[in-house]
Amino acid sequence: DWRTGNVIEEQVARIREQVGDSKVICGLSGGVDSAVAAALVHRAVGDQLTCIFVDHGLLRQDEREQVEQDYVASTGVRLVTVDAREQFLTALAGVTDPETKRKIIGREFIRAFEAAERDLAAEAAAEGEPIRWLVQGTLYPDVVESGGGAGTANIKSHHNVGGLPDDLQFELIEPLRALFKDEVRAIGRELGLPEVIVGRQPFPGPGLGIRIIGEVTEDRLDTLRRADAIARAELTAAGLDGEIWQCPVVLLADVRSVGVQGDGRTYGHPIVLRPVSSEDAMTADWTRLPYDVLARISNRITNEVEEVNRVVLDVTSKPPGTIEWE
Ligand code: XMP
Repeated sequence: DWRTGNVIEEQVARIREQVGDSKVICGLSGGVDSAVAAALVHRAVGDQLTCIFVDHGLLRQDEREQVEQDYVASTGVRLVTVDAREQFLTALAGVTDPETKRKIIGREFIRAFEAAERDLAAEAAAEGEPIRWLVQGTLYPDVVESGGGAGTANIKSHHNVGGLPDDLQFELIEPLRALFKDEVRAIGRELGLPEVIVGRQPFPGPGLGIRIIGEVTEDRLDTLRRADAIARAELTAAGLDGEIWQCPVVLLADVRSVGVQGDGRTYGHPIVLRPVSSEDAMTADWTRLPYDVLARISNRITNEVEEVNRVVLDVTSKPPGTIEWE
């Protein structure tokens, strides 16, 4: 496409001129925006850019590998992964209140990011070229929203993984500031990024941490991760990815119900499917998924995920329900 080609050329030239010989860092979340922003900057300044990916343990199945392997293979980006899984689990132990969870996850994210950033800064200083720039995948709608919109941000404390503390001493590079999501996806494809990343549906910064209703533990994360992977695989196989905005899969970890499997009684947890259709996530309707797809998801989850003996469907629009349960 000539337009995406032009945007790429223009941005690459501009970033090169801005940055000169200094170093650049970028937080990757696994999402589309930071992935495309970083790929553009990498095309402009190569290994002057280092990306930081914080694995907070609240990711979905295979997400870390998609960044570490597929993304790195397709871009050649220099990547530092911070394994912060223990740190987050410890900080979240005993916490059940949704806003408290969000605040803790945001705080620990900044802590983990800053530790990695300090190491890189020391290394860069030793090489005589300090880190001066920080890449952010801010899009046009983000610019508009933070310019005073009354968004969902007022209802829940939103946090963008890959988004950052205000007091870091960097200048910002925001190559996607004038663009909408579909344009960003087009640029990502043009840059050769993997479809698993470019085609990704929205996923909240606090990740699976706000999709476990109750305390977040390693076992519960594992249960939810397996159920979520099944739901996503079946939705994709049914060709429904383009029709739904996203489909949160939620574990009601403090609820149990009686079931029967084989000749035994079970006492397991429910999984909630929350498929929604939306234009901008400000309002949404529940998606009328085909019954046979729902049946396949339900059968597979209850058969393959031992801890789960019931699958329920959320049929609430937004408002009054939000998309995420916390
Ligand atoms: P709600 O639950 O408020 O979600 O209806 C609206 C959209 O925002 C996503 N979401 C988040 N995204 N950080 C994010 O980057 C967050 O903390 C966060 N919380 C919710 C949600 O998945 C939906 O697309």
